[in-house]
This record gives sequence, structure tokens and C-alpha cells, in this order.
Amino acid sequence: MSGAITGTTGILGIIGWPVEHSLSPLMQNEALRRAGLDLVYVPFPVHPDALEEAVKGLRALGVCGFNVTVPHKTAVIPCLDELTPEAEMCGAVNTVRRDDDRLIGHNTDGIGLVRSLADDLGFRPPGRTVLVLGAGGAARGAVLALAAAGISRMIVANRTLRYGEELCGLVRLQFPHLDVQAISLDMSAIKPVLGAVDLLLNTTSVGMSGTAFAGLDLTAMHQSAAVYDMVYAPPCTPLLEEARRHGLCCANGLGMLACQGEEAFSFWTGRPPHPGLMKSCLHGHIGATTA
Ligand code: ATR
Repeated sequence: MSGAITGTTGILGIIGWPVEHSLSPLMQNEALRRAGLDLVYVPFPVHPDALEEAVKGLRALGVCGFNVTVPHKTAVIPCLDELTPEAEMCGAVNTVRRDDDRLIGHNTDGIGLVRSLADDLGFRPPGRTVLVLGAGGAARGAVLALAAAGISRMIVANRTLRYGEELCGLVRLQFPHLDVQAISLDMSAIKPVLGAVDLLLNTTSVGMSGTAFAGLDLTAMHQSAAVYDMVYAPPCTPLLEEARRHGLCCANGLGMLACQGEEAFSFWTGRPPHPGLMKSCLHGHIGATTA
């Protein structure tokens, strides 16, 4: 927003439960201010039981758009009028735009990840092998985006093997030519594949609050391989410490957070935010850690 809130100021926001921890209001408002747009971005804590009512309310209030975070990314879909191909592909929405009286659901998480991998690690997907840790909602968005971006082999390591296999089945349906494999999330299963991996991607919450993967050893990874942890608090997780110890190029999820936010900003306003502004805003708040 360029100045004071007036009678013409448009509303953007984020719905989630909880939502207090979200850094999106910080970086989106900074970008809106810098762009001189008469818009303000606010957090809306929405309990899962109140989701449908909340979206009706946002519609009635004429908000211009909103982000959607945990736990509403899939549940919000029946409340919307239309999905973009990105949202359709992964069955999850993180960004909604109001076009006249229609709510359009979009997903910028996948493109945010792919852009951050390129910017922060110089990682280009075509022909590469990726080991994904986790098989939840974040993993689903990530693997589909990486498959669409052209990787040739994907290994999904999950604590509950069945969920990993289900995710691989979903990926195979959409990308029949991709080499996809599910393994257990333990070192005896991971070690034999590590040498073939170009990118190790953590999509689980392991790493938050100092938690670590048991027995993790990246010795077998080749020196040109990279490690990306979607966790960004703490900025240097035990996984990233291990990657650094082996001299591997690595980054945390702050870049993805910034990139998905930039893509959402463009989706709402029709123009990109000031380059690098969201990321520097986040770094200023949390601290940089790319290595
Ligand atoms: P999100 O939407 O953030 O991905 P989620 O759908 O609940 O959240 O998925 C969480 C992922 O982290 C799952 O892959 C989960 O493994 P399970 O499928 O076995 O539950 C993984 N996960 C969470 N805590 C974990 C832990 N302590 N160790 C290993 N994996 C963990």
C-alpha cells in the first residue's frame, strides 16, 4: 500500500489455522507498498469448521484475493468457482483471485520451488534424479512440479512406505514415462540410492525445532549434488549442516516462500513485485542461510 488505508483500498489476505506465524503479510505488504498499489494484505485465522463460511464472507466482502495455507489447501477447492491447471494438477490451492464474482484457485508452490531451486542452487530439472523425503501435501506439490519441469527419475522416501507408494502412483498416472520409486525413510534404504541423486529435497517437518533425521549420512552423495530443505526455521537445519559438512551446495526454504509469494503477487496484480524484495524482507526477518 502506498499510503493510508482509504475508502478505495482493496484487501488481500491469507487464511490458515493457525496463521499467526505466517511471514506472508510482512513480505506482501512490503511489495505492495513498493509498487504503490492501493491494496493491503491481512491475516485471517480461519478454523477448519468455519472454512466454507469464511470463503463466503471473503466473497461477500469483495476481497481481491487471498493466500491459503495449512490446513485448507485442499479443503478450500469446493468453495471456489474455477481452478488453474497448476491447482488442478496437484489438487491443492495456495492462491485465490477474485475475477468479477468468480473465485479462481491457483497454486504457486510448485513454480515457487522450481524457481527457488534454480535461483538458490542453480538446479535445472531436465534429466535429473531427485530424492524426496516425505509424501504429504508439500511433497505432492513438489514432486508434480518437478515432474512437470522435466526430471527423469524420482525416489520418494517416506516414514510410512504406503503413503510414499500412493504418491508415486499418483505421479505415474500423470507422468507415465517418469522413473518413480518409493522407499522407506531409513538410512539402510536411502544409502544405496544416494550416489545417483542430483537433488535431495526435504518436504517433511523434520528439522523444525532442531529435530533431525536419525542416522543421516550424506557421504555417498556426489560433489555436484545439492540439498534443499523446505524448512526455514531454524535457518540451518541438521540436514543442511550435514550437507555443508560434505561441501554440498544447499539452501533452506526461504527462497521458495519468497518465490511462491512473488508468483501470487503477479497473479493478483498482473505485474511482478520489485525483484528480490520479498526475499530480502524474509532474510531480514529470519536470517540468510544459503550456502
Ligand atoms: P505437509 O502438508 O506439510 O506435507 P503432511 O501432509 O502432514 O504435511 O505430511 C507430513 C510429511 O512429513 C509426511 O510425509 C510424514 O510422514 P508419514 O507419511 O509417515 O506421516 C512426514 N513426517 C512428519 N513427521 C515426521 C517424522 N518425525 N519423521 C519422519 N517423517 C515425518
